[in-house]
Amino acid sequence: MSPTIDVTTLAEAYAGKSPQDILKLAFDLFGDDLWISFSGAEDVVLLDMAWKLNKNVRVFTLDTGRLHSETYRFIEQVRDHYKIPIQIMTPDPKLLEPLVNEKGLFSFYRDGHGECCGIRKIEPLRRKLATVRAWATGQRRDQSPGTRSQVAVLEIDNAFSTPDNTLYKFNPLAQMTSEEVWTYIRMLEIPFNSLHERGFISIGCEPCTRPVLPNQHEREGRWWWEEATQKECGLHAGNLIAKD
Ligand code: ADX
Ligand code: SF4
Repeated sequence: MSPTIDVTTLAEAYAGKSPQDILKLAFDLFGDDLWISFSGAEDVVLLDMAWKLNKNVRVFTLDTGRLHSETYRFIEQVRDHYKIPIQIMTPDPKLLEPLVNEKGLFSFYRDGHGECCGIRKIEPLRRKLATVRAWATGQRRDQSPGTRSQVAVLEIDNAFSTPDNTLYKFNPLAQMTSEEVWTYIRMLEIPFNSLHERGFISIGCEPCTRPVLPNQHEREGRWWWEEATQKECGLHAGNLIAKD
C-alpha cells in the first residue's frame, strides 16, 4: 500500500520547483494523508496554496496556551475564511501542571526554552505525528541562517518517525524568501496575523517573541535571551544536527 519513495532523488529534482509543484507532489503521493502544520503566522501562504490545490486539505496547529490573542483570533479567521477545520493540539496537563506549579509560568527565561517547548509543543506534535504519514511545514531557508540554511523540500523526518511509521516531511516554502511570501500575501489579499502590522516578523509564543528593529534578522525576535544556534524549539529537530 505504501509507495516506495526515493526521497533523495525527489528532493534534488524538486529543489528548484515552485512551492505549488512541491505541494502537488505531496498530494499525489499522500492525498488526504498529508497534514499541514500551521503556526498562525505568515505560513498562511502554505495553507492558501495547499487549499487551492485540495479543498479537503487537513491542517493542525499546536496551541501552546501561550500564543498571542492576535494569533488565536487569526487562527479562527483562517478557519472561517477557508471554511476548513483546523485541528488544535494542546499540551498534556499531566506534564504541564507539574512544570508550571513547580517552576512557575516563566521558567524558560531562567532555564532555557527546552523544557517548556518540550511539553507545550513537542509532546503534542509527537502525539499528532504518530498518526500521520506525511506533514508539510512553512519552514524557509531564509528564516534562520544559523539553523535553516539547508532545509530540504522533502526529507524523512527522523525525529518523529517511529519503528512502525516512516514519516515524510515536506517544506514547500524552503526556497521562498520573506519578500516573496509577503508579495504573495499582499497580491492575493489573503488574511494575515495583525501582529505583522506591529513589527513582528517571526511569530511564536507571546513571552518568547518580540518585534525586531529595522535590519535586525527576524530570528532575533525569538528567544532573544539565548544563543542564535539554540533558536529552534525541536519541531524541526533536523535543523539542529550539525551540518558543517
Ligand atoms: S519554530 O520551530 O521556530 O517555532 P517557526 O515559527 O519558524 O517554527 O515556524 C516554522 C514552521 O513550523 C511553521 O510554518 C509551521 O509549519 C511549523 N510550526 C511552528 N509553530 C507551530 C505551531 N504552533 N503549530 C503548528 N505548526 C507550527
Ligand atoms: Fe514555552 Fe516559550 Fe517554547 Fe512557547 S516558545 S512553548 S512559551 S518556551
